[in-house]
Amino acid sequence: MKDFESFRQEETGMSAGIVGTGSALPARVVSNQELERLVDTTDEWIRSRTGIESRHIAVEETTTSMAVEAAEKAMKNAGVTADEIDLIIVGTVSGDMHFPSTACQVQKEISAGNATAFDINAACAGFLFGLAIADAYIRSGMARTALIIGAETLSKLTDWSDRGTCVLFGDGAGAAVVQKKEEGILSIAQGSDGAGGGALTCRDRENSNPFMTQAMMNTDPDHTHMNGQEVYRFAVKTVPVIIEKALEKAQLGPEDIKFFLLHQANIRIIEAVARKLGQPAEKFPTNLQKCGNISAGSIPVLLDYVHQEGMLQKGDKIVLAGFGGGLTFGAAVLIW
Ligand code: COA
Repeated sequence: MKDFESFRQEETGMSAGIVGTGSALPARVVSNQELERLVDTTDEWIRSRTGIESRHIAVEETTTSMAVEAAEKAMKNAGVTADEIDLIIVGTVSGDMHFPSTACQVQKEISAGNATAFDINAACAGFLFGLAIADAYIRSGMARTALIIGAETLSKLTDWSDRGTCVLFGDGAGAAVVQKKEEGILSIAQGSDGAGGGALTCRDRENSNPFMTQAMMNTDPDHTHMNGQEVYRFAVKTVPVIIEKALEKAQLGPEDIKFFLLHQANIRIIEAVARKLGQPAEKFPTNLQKCGNISAGSIPVLLDYVHQEGMLQKGDKIVLAGFGGGLTFGAAVLIW
């Protein structure tokens, strides 16, 4: 029996692909040296353990304002108008409101009245999971032009007195316009491991309704907690496997891929994945040095950088791969 993917491709004779990208980063840059003054850390420790030198931190910006800026740039880059957008998906864990969703706020700001808009929470794999949804919508005929955004203000979820996490994260947003394309997304492989989710958490405000006792109430806002070594092991084990799975579905090998754009969490994770795939480090562009880990924003910000730098030619094959809280993981193989 044919799998669903090949059936869909034959049925529509089309796949979905990225036709434009954009990104937005906060103006304020925070160096490792500045963090040395906040917590007991050193520039040397941060660089050698993570590769990060500085990150952008939102002062004036919000998750929505960065998402809107990235979206507008992606639409301009793709040459599409707001009226043409019929699907907006924002991957985020740090929206400005519980509701309306960030996607609905973006819809309002860019006047995309014809769109269906919603957020998804897949943490650092949020952009990739959004891309998978857009791919399915477009191939099934439910949408024609989708705007996929990864946007985060992680600085508000960060405990700025915890040296184990505050040095890792940054703020920003990236966006891509996805449309029907003769050749585009060749394959997507995804997975989740809810049982391992305790390795990376941030609790929401707890229930404090008037029917609870005072002792049960806890309204203190929580911050990001992480078991760094567990997350590290998960990433190094899972990411090569999910990339290989996506490559197998696309009937390609790692040697066919020009660039692997990985979630920008840690240079050592990226180097370990490159080694496991037997591929040279030059095939793994990075921007974590200047951006840190932007969670769902990480992959689209890097993709926009690589695209705007003219590093991608039509017909190039690339892999996008993300992993993060949930735990969640996924990889996509695309022809540019
Ligand atoms: N500056 C200085 N020392 C620090 C520090 C910092 N910013 N953060 C932690 N340390 C200390 C620890 O307290 C520990 O000290 P101890 O030995 O006295 O107890 C020591 O450094 C080693 O800590 P450890 O956690 O073992 O370091 P590590 O080599 O595992 O590196 C990470 C820590 C976070 C960089 C690493 O585990 C990692 O990258 N994990 C993956 C994180 C990730 O990608 N998260 C996002 C996923 S989406």
